[in-house]
Amino acid sequence: MDYDLSFGGVIIMLLNSIEWQDNRIRFIDQSLLPERLRFVYCNNINTLWHAIRSLKIRGAPLIGVAVALGYTLAARNSKAKTLKAFKKEMDDISKYLRSVRPTAVNLFWALDRMERTLKEQSCRGHLSVPYNLRTLKGLLLKEALKILKEDRELCKDIGEQGSRLIKNGDVILTHCNAGILATAGYGTALSIFYAAKKQGKSFKVYVDETRPLLQGSRLTMWELQKSGIDATLITDSMAATTIKNKCITKIIVGADRIVRNGDVANKIGTYNLAILARFYKIPFYVAAPSSTIDLKVKSGQGIPIEERPKEELIFIGKRQIAPRDSKAYNPAFDITPAKLITAIITEKGIFSINRFRKVYR
Ligand code: MRU
Repeated sequence: MDYDLSFGGVIIMLLNSIEWQDNRIRFIDQSLLPERLRFVYCNNINTLWHAIRSLKIRGAPLIGVAVALGYTLAARNSKAKTLKAFKKEMDDISKYLRSVRPTAVNLFWALDRMERTLKEQSCRGHLSVPYNLRTLKGLLLKEALKILKEDRELCKDIGEQGSRLIKNGDVILTHCNAGILATAGYGTALSIFYAAKKQGKSFKVYVDETRPLLQGSRLTMWELQKSGIDATLITDSMAATTIKNKCITKIIVGADRIVRNGDVANKIGTYNLAILARFYKIPFYVAAPSSTIDLKVKSGQGIPIEERPKEELIFIGKRQIAPRDSKAYNPAFDITPAKLITAIITEKGIFSINRFRKVYR
């Protein structure tokens, strides 16, 4: 289903990146933006897996919601006749979904929750088969929809919390896309901008294009423009000059995983910005929901970093931009050490790294 892209500012706030509709998952194919806004209906777990792997669905919180819905979709499609066979099937589904991308912890967090629900509900002893497998599938759907609804609410709260940092006249730099398209709600870093705008604050945003997959230019610019926020596009290599010449007052980004010591994995290029922020003595903030915090991992060294195919560097779309047989290194994320981060903004508040370490233990 394709939509006209000429619609104005208000409607974007009503746009849901993902939904459960008529027993199917409806998502926006983000690989087509900003040229086309296409909603895809998916009732097959393989389609969902490939949509996440190819970044049609992307952004840490959105990936979490997507796999929760995917788990429920697979449960509904299951033909298993016994609880044992059903559990075995769901185990395999969980393993399959866990293999899709390694860095965003929301994926593992959401599947842990779905698996816990299956375990708890099926241990209750009232599940005689086959009738009660239907009840169990209903409970799994309920849990997935709860994860989706919670994500929407968390985004709003992050926006409210973070907007306290925004002052009239601020000039803010952001990287990648941590907005409506990356979550089930208003986003994380961008939710702060939406809340600040609603409060009548006046500020400007500079947007890193975010090579190689251009989430900044394709997605963040699109979102911010449609929302009526004053946004200017730069290439990643212009960040230092922009900070200096355009008097950037703060940098705000999202996160794919925040670990116990406060180190943060986010889109490749985030670490560069944190170093620049320190050099220019401007604050560097990371905004994320609690579902992005992984207390099982002690420091950034323990975060698995996804490496993507070299073709993403050799081509932009169909256009070849480097020799086809080039050697290429393509990590999708980097680690920003906690010592470069001014504060982490979650739905619960704004935490300096020391406070973060005390609160999130
Ligand atoms: O590879 P992507 O597009 O999934 O990476 C997304 C990011 O790095 C975002 O900044 C992060 O997931 C936060 S989204 C609220």
